[in-house]
Amino acid sequence: MHPTLAMPGHVAIVMDGNGRWATRRLMPRIAGHRQGVETLRKAVRWSLDRGIGVLTVFAFSSENWNRPAEEVKGLMALLMHAIPRELPGFIEQGVALRFVGDRAGLAPEIQSLFSSAEAQTAAGRRITLNVCFNYGGRWDIVQAARTLAERGETITEAALAASLSLAHVPDPDLVIRTGGEQRVSNFLLWQAAYAEWFFSDKAWPSFTADDFDLAISAFQGRERRFGLTSQQVREQAHAAGPVLEGLDDRCQA
Ligand code: IPE
Ligand code: IPE
Ligand code: MG
Repeated sequence: MHPTLAMPGHVAIVMDGNGRWATRRLMPRIAGHRQGVETLRKAVRWSLDRGIGVLTVFAFSSENWNRPAEEVKGLMALLMHAIPRELPGFIEQGVALRFVGDRAGLAPEIQSLFSSAEAQTAAGRRITLNVCFNYGGRWDIVQAARTLAERGETITEAALAASLSLAHVPDPDLVIRTGGEQRVSNFLLWQAAYAEWFFSDKAWPSFTADDFDLAISAFQGRERRFGLTSQQVREQAHAAGPVLEGLDDRCQA
């Protein structure tokens, strides 16, 4: 990580590899998920320390319901246990918690826990932590389209984006996937249109601050072109002034 280069404002993470981490250690898969919560607590700290304003994590997908009932039950229990335990620390650190996904499909006690945790952390100003739970990118696009249809609104990119479940934050700049798989798995299908991706072979429970910085360094070393040519991007950077010019000099070096 280069401290003087621009940090990603919004980092999203597919926290994958918990089950294999546990299996390799001859432990039940749920032990991997439990350890994954520990890494998530640290990741909030790493993000705060680096001035990252938004952290979005994939915790449970629309498709994860198809796992063995015991694992699903264990994940729900872990959630019910972990949120109240982490709340005081989050409040103290200025974390605003947001739960993103299809809440109607969750048990009433989980729905109330989500609402209460959001209300208790609503004053958090240092970082927004979006926890995607019972979330799928396809679900999100469909619910947004349905909202517009119900209101009789014209479907434009801006109107659809404003109805998506992450409309309260800018699109992610960097998406990290741990666990060795290189696929999207129905995460942020719309929002990651121009995100930089970083894949790590490390399982989420063993992901460290150094691994996080490696992802940020990779991000900082890339040129985001948004469909333009490299020359256009450099011209824009010069026009934007000295901060971006520094980045431009480095790119030419
Ligand atoms: C990610 O870890 C967490 C969830 C999907 C809930 P996995 O449980 O998918 O771990 P692996 O991929 O089986 O190792
Ligand atoms: C993606 O991981 C979902 C989460 C990390 C919550 P999966 O483990 O469910 O993804 P696949 O099944 O390997 O694509
Ligand atoms: Mg997995």
